Amino acid sequence: MKILVTGGLGFIGSHTVVELQQKGFDVLIVDDCSNSNENVLEGIKAITGIKPTLEKFDLKNKDKVESFFKEHIDIVGVIHFAASKAVGESVENPLLYYENNVGTLIYILKELCKKNSASFIFSSSCTVYGQADKMPITEDAPIKVAESPYGNTKQIGEEIIADTCKVTPSLNAIALRYFNPMGAHPSAEIGELPVGVPQNLVPFITQTGIGMRKELSVFGNDYPTIDGTCVRDYIYVVDLAKAHVVALERLLENKNTKNYEVFNVGTGTGSSVLEAIQSFERVSGNSLNYKIVARRSGDITTAYADTTKANTTLGWKSEYSLDDAMKSAWVWEQKIRD
Ligand code: WQD
Repeated sequence: MKILVTGGLGFIGSHTVVELQQKGFDVLIVDDCSNSNENVLEGIKAITGIKPTLEKFDLKNKDKVESFFKEHIDIVGVIHFAASKAVGESVENPLLYYENNVGTLIYILKELCKKNSASFIFSSSCTVYGQADKMPITEDAPIKVAESPYGNTKQIGEEIIADTCKVTPSLNAIALRYFNPMGAHPSAEIGELPVGVPQNLVPFITQTGIGMRKELSVFGNDYPTIDGTCVRDYIYVVDLAKAHVVALERLLENKNTKNYEVFNVGTGTGSSVLEAIQSFERVSGNSLNYKIVARRSGDITTAYADTTKANTTLGWKSEYSLDDAMKSAWVWEQKIRD
């Protein structure tokens, strides 16, 4: 079965391609390489023995999207990762984000609506919940006003899919709301490749650990949490990748109860920034240089998932611990700086 993975050379995309290939799916990647590297294809091949086909183009090219789907009429499912994801950049350049993240989604959905049957998995985010009133966060928690244009593109994306599914019975879709993805494949053939200074905690920790950064700034220790630092639900990227395959199979096997469903993808456990640092220190055997600085604006205090719906309805559960995931991130960091 041919599956299109947009953004398949990216961090979560590449891990998902591996899991799909290992399940026997025929994977086709569309990526414009604007925030990824073609060498990732070799990493995927080293793991699965199969180099996926890459079509390198920008999904903002509506005509190209149309001709692509005409050419690949046998695509039965799409996992749509391709999007811009830097929160700060989205504040600086909102139109870029609306065009990249919302425009391309519309073009793909238009093509899927032409088919007799289509399955669609969308990369959404826990960012849609903002600072939720209750922990752990269930899927029916209210959607808060978005903190950034990036977050808004995920909210709008979900609404566009829901509205389209309402009038298109042949389209079946699942939005996966990721918590904080981290780590690298256990083979260390693929992993996260942040461009420039990492904004996310884990790559900043591993880059500090290896000496690329002098020290990690911990943004605030006066939050009402276990140790004063913010709490997040760090989910191992391989577990997250597997959730995509399970979700896709649910649609392909007609196991879904509605033609648009939403699931949280997290571990269900919150970890503070200091606990993440301690995990790094445990698995690497190194102490990490860090200092406490002022809060980062826009940060929420605590976010971790209620995973009951994913566990029971989807039949997926995270398997790896924070230490396992941190270890994989550290092995990867050492490999790429070698
Ligand atoms: C985690 C924690 C920081 C860097 C982002 C996106 C969000 C979603 C998930 C996809 C926070 C602290 C960080 C550093 C630190 N992504 N930190 N020093 O903010 O939870 O969410 O990823 O949709 O949209 O915004 O992740 O990794 O940036 O931060 O102290 O140098 O680490 O304050 O508490 P975040 P993060």
